[in-house]
Amino acid sequence: MITYKMASVPGDGIGPEVIAEGIKVLNAAAALDGGFRFEWTEFPWGCDFYLQHGKMMDDDGIEQLKQFDAIYLGAVGAPGVPDHISLWGLLLEIRKGFDQYINLRPVKLLRGAPCPLKDAKPEDIDMTFVRENSEGEYAGSGAWLYKDQPNEVVIQNGVFSRHGCERVIRYAYELARKEHKTLTSISKGNALNYSMVFWDQVFAEVGREYPDVKTYSLLVDAASMFMVKNPKRFEIVVTSNLFGDILTDLGAAIAGGMGLAAGANLNPERKFPSMFEPIHGSAPDIAGKGIADPLAAIWSASQVLDFFGHEDWGRKVIDAIERLLTEKQVLTPDIGGTASTREVGDAVVRILEGK
Ligand code: NAD
Ligand code: IPM
Ligand code: MN
Repeated sequence: MITYKMASVPGDGIGPEVIAEGIKVLNAAAALDGGFRFEWTEFPWGCDFYLQHGKMMDDDGIEQLKQFDAIYLGAVGAPGVPDHISLWGLLLEIRKGFDQYINLRPVKLLRGAPCPLKDAKPEDIDMTFVRENSEGEYAGSGAWLYKDQPNEVVIQNGVFSRHGCERVIRYAYELARKEHKTLTSISKGNALNYSMVFWDQVFAEVGREYPDVKTYSLLVDAASMFMVKNPKRFEIVVTSNLFGDILTDLGAAIAGGMGLAAGANLNPERKFPSMFEPIHGSAPDIAGKGIADPLAAIWSASQVLDFFGHEDWGRKVIDAIERLLTEKQVLTPDIGGTASTREVGDAVVRILEGK
């Protein structure tokens, strides 16, 4: 019996509500398989913790998390704590601390999922975003000069290292090669005359090693238009940290909504634990009501199963989500249902159990 040591960080708002359902699904898959199990340790970090202790996580939080095989995170952020404090103190700290430089975000329209695009079918929206997750616009480099003075100046640097660009771009080429898909790089070299010109150059350079992969390069403004007008043209997509953040919320919108969008923060070398999370936030507007959609968290649970090599179970979880979406009997209000968060989690488990 293989045991996977899992750290759960439910976090704030709807985080704990959706993570509970994901854990339920992971435990059910393990029990049904019989060959592996999950051992969970929960960390109480987040905004409540901050209000009590003046910090988002323990000082040695990264050290504590190091011993785990993976991290399952809900969401971070609550009214009352400035977002840049809460996110930099927990979510971004983990992504950076564990060099989770790949943010893998499926943008796939599952059968039965609502789609605001007229006539779009599941086969028209089937992309995988490879978002750079360690530097770029999120490097945290800058300065705030003459604060609160009339001559106040704020500088936020984008940091694009050769190492950082090459590794994420190479990962995307490898994925495209493996899956026999096209690869689209999204950048903005016409205006960002250093960072994005460099990005485009590295994309072309690395591409010489992958003559078998058909590539496209798009400017981010045009790319966002095409994601709505012609999403079929995208298969594997590679882009910078900020563009990937924005475009994957757009992706969520065309593929069922925030309640269905999942993401994995990967350290591909597996030197450090990877982290799995729904891409949505803590949704303070619906927190505590028991109506948050847990399907995004459950989809990221299926990414956990894939990550440990249990792709068969990962697939079964996605199939179960698709069945709920097509039957439309047990869905949360964001996608037109009346069920609670817990009822949706229970229904996924029932389907896995073959009931
Ligand atoms: P959000 O994703 O929390 O919410 C946006 C909208 O989508 C809201 O109307 C919300 O109700 C809805 N929504 C989100 N997830 C849902 C779900 N599972 N089921 C049903 N509806 C859902 O984004 P926001 O409002 O911009 O941010 C709220 C807080 O979350 C902020 O503090 C922000 O910084 C933080 N945030 C955290 C993460 C993260 O931890 N990964 C991601 C994004 C935002
Ligand atoms: C996401 C979130 C985070 C990001 C925020 C909360 C820092 O929006 O995971 O998409 O921008 O990466
Ligand atoms: Mn985001």
